[in-house]
Amino acid sequence: MTAYTIRTFRFPDDYAAVYDLWAHAGPGIQLRVSDEPEEIAKKVAHDPDLFIVAETPEGEIIGAVMAGFDGRRGLIYHLAVAEPHRGQGIGKALMDEIEARLRAKGCLRAYLMVVPGHDDVLAFYHNLGWEDLPVITLAKNLTD
Ligand SMILES: CC(C)(COP(=O)(O)OP(=O)(O)OC[C@H]1O[C@@H](n2cnc3c(N)ncnc32)[C@H](O)[C@@H]1OP(=O)(O)O)[C@@H](O)C(=O)NCCC(=O)NCCS
Repeated sequence: MTAYTIRTFRFPDDYAAVYDLWAHAGPGIQLRVSDEPEEIAKKVAHDPDLFIVAETPEGEIIGAVMAGFDGRRGLIYHLAVAEPHRGQGIGKALMDEIEARLRAKGCLRAYLMVVPGHDDVLAFYHNLGWEDLPVITLAKNLTD
C-alpha cells in the first residue's frame, strides 16, 4: 500500500509535477490552455483550497483533483492518480476531500464531465454516488 497524505496544491512549486501527472493520465484528461501556469495561477488565486494533491512521504505527487465553486454549483475537474498507485483508494480519498471542501463552502450540488467512451471511470464515479445526467455539454472559447 502506498503511504500518502492529502494537502492543498501549492503554486508554483507543485505545478510541474501535477501537469506531468495529468499529461500521463490517459485520454480521460484533456489538457488545454486553461492548464498553463498563468491560468492555474488565476484558479489558485480564486479558490486556493479547491485544488488538492496526494503526496507520498518522499514528496512525490501521485494524485490530484481540482474544483470550482461559483456560489451555487460546484464543478470538479482533472482527477488523476498515477498509474502505479491506482486501485488503493487514493482516487476515492481525493474525491471525498474535494467534496467535503465544496460542502464546507455551502455547495449543494456539483458536476463533473467525463470524456465519452470512459465506461471504466463511470463505474468509479457511480461507486462514489455520482449519477449520470441526460444533458449535452456545450463549450465556447472566450479567447480572441
Ligand atoms: C479514475 C481514477 C482517478 C481512480 O483512481 P483510483 O485511486 O484507482 O480509484 P480508487 O482505488 O480510489 O477506487 C475507489 C473505488 O472505485 C472502484 N474503481 C476504481 N476504478 C474503477 C474502475 N475502473 N471500474 C470500476 N470500479 C472502479 C474501486 O474498486 C474502489 O471501490 P471500493 O471502494 O468498493 O473498493 C484513476 O483510474 C485515474 O487516474 N484514471 C485516469 C485519469 C482519469 O480518467 N480521470 C478521470 C477524469 S473524469
